[in-house]
Amino acid sequence: MSTKKITVNTLMDMKNKGEKITMLTAYDFQMASLLDQCGIDMILVGDSLGNVMLGYENTIPVTMNEMIHHCKAVTRGAKNAMIVGDMPFMSYQINAEQAVENAGRLLKESDVEAVKLEGGEEVLEAIHKIVQAGIPVMGHLGLTPQSINKFGGYGVRGEAEEEAQAMLSDAKKLEEAGAFSVVLEKVPAKLAKSITDAINIPTIGIGAGVNCDGQVLVTHDMLGLFEKFRPKFSKRYAELAKEMKRCYSQYIKEVKEKEFPSQEHSF
Ligand code: KIV
Repeated sequence: MSTKKITVNTLMDMKNKGEKITMLTAYDFQMASLLDQCGIDMILVGDSLGNVMLGYENTIPVTMNEMIHHCKAVTRGAKNAMIVGDMPFMSYQINAEQAVENAGRLLKESDVEAVKLEGGEEVLEAIHKIVQAGIPVMGHLGLTPQSINKFGGYGVRGEAEEEAQAMLSDAKKLEEAGAFSVVLEKVPAKLAKSITDAINIPTIGIGAGVNCDGQVLVTHDMLGLFEKFRPKFSKRYAELAKEMKRCYSQYIKEVKEKEFPSQEHSF
């Protein structure tokens, strides 16, 4: 379990030593604080907050202001984990200057230590300029949910040989552009291993098999808090939605039946 501040250098050391990197998402102070207390290496304030916190259908509507609001809460809760904030849709695609400006806003206004953005070849210039400005960038290849309308679904990416080769080439280019790490989402395990072996920066998998340098999951999925869908790649470590509903129902019943508050909870 880590008790020291995790930096990009720590992550490189971990890859070189073959020590697995752990990452989970958080969107608020309390979740971040619990994750940090348990020794998580990295916390991602993912734009998945659009789905699990704000009730959007997908991540497309998430704004810079919404990201900053949640990133601020997370950075107040975690001291040791490295905190990465997602760049929302259309905050980096228009041009590299706007990408630098928005990455800078995330760092200055919310205190995250790095940003993540989705894509390969098409975002290299943005990555290069953000890194030049002194901001660590995490890439994201494979299933990139901000492009859901282009893909037309949330299926596995890189099954066809041509797409697999393009992803491998993109991963190398992300490293060359200065990314410190890359998320591989919903990618065949064999391809994820080839990418992991081919680049010097850590790969963090989600639905990409055991051979990535690290793993990330959406906290709400692994805790069984988000009931709307159940991704195959996300192991459920608890059924918190069920447990919360049990507590809420019991409270409602006890108040209605004047069982709560009892003497013990009264003055
Ligand atoms: O937004 C998010 O939570 C993510 C993870 C799924 C990697 O990008």
